[in-house]
Amino acid sequence: MRKETLKQLAAETAAKNVQDGMVVGLGTGSTVYYALLKLGEMVRGGLDIIGIPTSKQTEEIAKAHGIPLSTLEKHQVINVTIDGADEVDTGLHLIKGMGGALVREKIVAHASNQLIIVADESKLVEALGTKSPLPVEVVPFGWQATQLALKQLCDRISLRLVNNAPFISDNGMYILDCHFNAIPQPAQTEQIINYIPGVVENGLFVNRAEKAIIGTASGIQIREK
Ligand code: A5P
Repeated sequence: MRKETLKQLAAETAAKNVQDGMVVGLGTGSTVYYALLKLGEMVRGGLDIIGIPTSKQTEEIAKAHGIPLSTLEKHQVINVTIDGADEVDTGLHLIKGMGGALVREKIVAHASNQLIIVADESKLVEALGTKSPLPVEVVPFGWQATQLALKQLCDRISLRLVNNAPFISDNGMYILDCHFNAIPQPAQTEQIINYIPGVVENGLFVNRAEKAIIGTASGIQIREK
């Protein structure tokens, strides 16, 4: 099956967890896109929900598909969030942020009673850091000094660029992509990185997901805590 079909399968399965009256966190990325399409269809069919987008991109897509939206300022408790991931390990720990929305995604995940991850099987790893770099959002002021400090922890690091200029997150920050051979102790690494001044947040999501819905060539695989 094509990767897009696997993403769609996972995302549409996750949408079935959404019920009337829920406040729903809306993640970011090409897999969540299919969940947004499905939720839009469900809303047109009468489903009554309020969505909290994790990025400007998701906000635009959700609006275009008729999903009623609010903000975390107004709804601080979210019933369920559906989001994607760049890596999912066997303990349901994640790397997120290749789409550049990791800060808002982590804030929304923390405010959620349940975080459901949707992904195709290419995102499954034995150890985090083996396929994807770890995105770290940093304050532009003195970012080179922050990069130098982060360099002590990883094998290779690069400033994320778009058209030869720094990628700017929805929060007006830069992103440094940190390449590791592997991240054997994700909980410690998450804390150590966030201790560096200039770091806003990093893409390690440890003990945050309750469920991962994975699209595989042989069908849906559900992993739960
Ligand atoms: C956005 O910042 C990311 O955390 C995405 O959730 C992640 O990159 C997965 O995106 P795809 O579903 O597009 O692979």
